[in-house]
Amino acid sequence: MRILVTGGAGFIGGHLVERLAGEGHELLVVDDLSTGSVEHLPPPARLVESDFAAPAALAAVAAFRPAAIVHLAAQIDAAASVVDPLADARTNVLSTLALLEACRALEARPRVVFASSAAVYPEGVPLPAREAAAGSPATPYGVAKLAVEHYLACYRSAHRLSSLALRFANVYGPRQGARAEGGVVAIFARALASDRRARIFGDGRQTRDFVHVADVVDALVRALGSAAQGSFNVSTAVETDVRTVFALLAGRLRPGAEPERAPPRPGDVARSALSYDAAASGLGWRPTVALAEGLAGTADWFLGRSGKDPR
Ligand SMILES: NC(=O)c1ccc[n+]([C@@H]2O[C@H](COP(=O)([O-])OP(=O)(O)OC[C@H]3O[C@@H](n4cnc5c(N)ncnc54)[C@H](O)[C@@H]3O)[C@@H](O)[C@H]2O)c1
Repeated sequence: MRILVTGGAGFIGGHLVERLAGEGHELLVVDDLSTGSVEHLPPPARLVESDFAAPAALAAVAAFRPAAIVHLAAQIDAAASVVDPLADARTNVLSTLALLEACRALEARPRVVFASSAAVYPEGVPLPAREAAAGSPATPYGVAKLAVEHYLACYRSAHRLSSLALRFANVYGPRQGARAEGGVVAIFARALASDRRARIFGDGRQTRDFVHVADVVDALVRALGSAAQGSFNVSTAVETDVRTVFALLAGRLRPGAEPERAPPRPGDVARSALSYDAAASGLGWRPTVALAEGLAGTADWFLGRSGKDPR
């Protein structure tokens, strides 16, 4: 299949492109390398280094005539969206709309798989959150992700554009940058692997739903191959607190290490976990990587990067 991956040089994108290349798909990656790296790209993937909404990039997409698009490129920092909602909306809403318009103009409309987020849920919904609970996001980043989901629904009915939004929980795994939403694992692992102190905000009892990047890639591949429409969570439905993540990583990287304590960050969600029942029935998808195992592999990768020998 001819597949366009925007943001394919990023953390999730690199893992996805590797898997799709291994399956023999013809790939085009559009990435401006603002947070991604060419190191993440296997050789068969062709890279257009550009903003994905730039006219030349959209022309390259039209010439490529993709059968499917995985749209991962985004401004990924929820806190940054609070500081500069305009910049967030320019990339995450307006540029994404330009991409959808380019899809509409294609004779054979591609299937669109969109990277949405747990940020579409408000604080305080019953956990694990089900898809219908989305609404009133706490950050402009979440508003933008939800807006795109609504645009996709419009394009589905008005222009027969097939699409599925996958709402990722906190994704973690090798190669993650420290700014991403699931970044706490990368931040802790990088600090612990390099003898720096990792910082925990508040009491560390805030919970997140940590899903391994290999499972996320598997959900994306299933989404490409299915005709399912709408929005599905991609998650584990398990709440894990930040202290536990620190303890598991420290056990592997630097036993006995203590975190630095910092005041709670305003706007930090207290608890998060998402149900994956819809993805299980709609895509036959389930998370397979247990957290302890996934964190161990991630810790070893960061240790390898730091130049020290894995224990
Ligand atoms: N990592 C998580 O925990 C998580 C959770 C929920 C949703 N998501 C979503 O998944 C997607 C991928 O996230 P990631 O963690 O791999 O982040 P990432 O920063 O590693 O990847 C994003 C990629 O997009 C590229 N990019 C950014 N703006 C661009 C633009 N205007 N034009 C072209 N390329 C651009 C970056 O260079 C990077 O390679 C994003 O849409 C993000 O919002 C991630």
